[in-house]
Amino acid sequence: MTRLGVNVDHVATVRQARRAPEPDPVTAALLAELAGADGITVHLRGDRRHIRERDVRLLREVVTTRLNLEMAITGEMVEIATRLLPNTATLVPETDEEVTTEGGLDVMARPESVRSAIRTLEGAGLEVSLFIDPDLEQLDAASRIGAGLVELNTAAYAEAVPKGLSEHEPGYRRELDKMVEASEFAASRGIRVLAGHGLTYRNVRPISRIPQVEELNIGHNIVARATLVGMERAVREMLSAMNA
Ligand code: PXP
Repeated sequence: MTRLGVNVDHVATVRQARRAPEPDPVTAALLAELAGADGITVHLRGDRRHIRERDVRLLREVVTTRLNLEMAITGEMVEIATRLLPNTATLVPETDEEVTTEGGLDVMARPESVRSAIRTLEGAGLEVSLFIDPDLEQLDAASRIGAGLVELNTAAYAEAVPKGLSEHEPGYRRELDKMVEASEFAASRGIRVLAGHGLTYRNVRPISRIPQVEELNIGHNIVARATLVGMERAVREMLSAMNA
């Protein structure tokens, strides 16, 4: 069974659209856990466009599964993570202009800053995951700085199947093969593998079937469905799309 981490950022996006107290991502996280989620993920961005520090603080108190904090490698975020102590810190690249995280970390370009963040966060007792593209050179660089856990970026795979799964979509096979090869390569270096970004009820199954992939982090598509059918049903339907 592949585990599911539910990203509740976009519940906070709806709240921040009106700068209102509702809907509360903390409530959404608890409902996701009740429906069987194995973990809760939030991305505290430098611009605080959705999740705020208050959310991370409350989630740390109430989440009973695992709390994963996505964060850029900045002094501010490292300070917050080592103070609030989520179970996992996922290191992601971040720019102000992007709508969502664009691409994985460039570990090859900045091995020392990634290594130093890993050291500080692990020193505080956190598990550290690196969000990287399914690229063997990046994985090799991650292995050389001692990474033990990566989240492979499924955005290119998801973009190759925009209307759902079809063997005829150009690029589908190529992007899935890249995910399989990257997962096997990471495992051969002793690196544990998670995956996420852009996954939907329609495209998730080939990724959850990759044996090395332990857990998927899924946000937008679950929250989108939750606005129509409720969080618990949306989470249950994703779990069955993954593991049926
Ligand atoms: N993993 C990472 C590292 C992300 O930045 C995001 C988006 O916040 C996700 C997974 C979830 O992506 P989506 O919202 O497209 O499911």
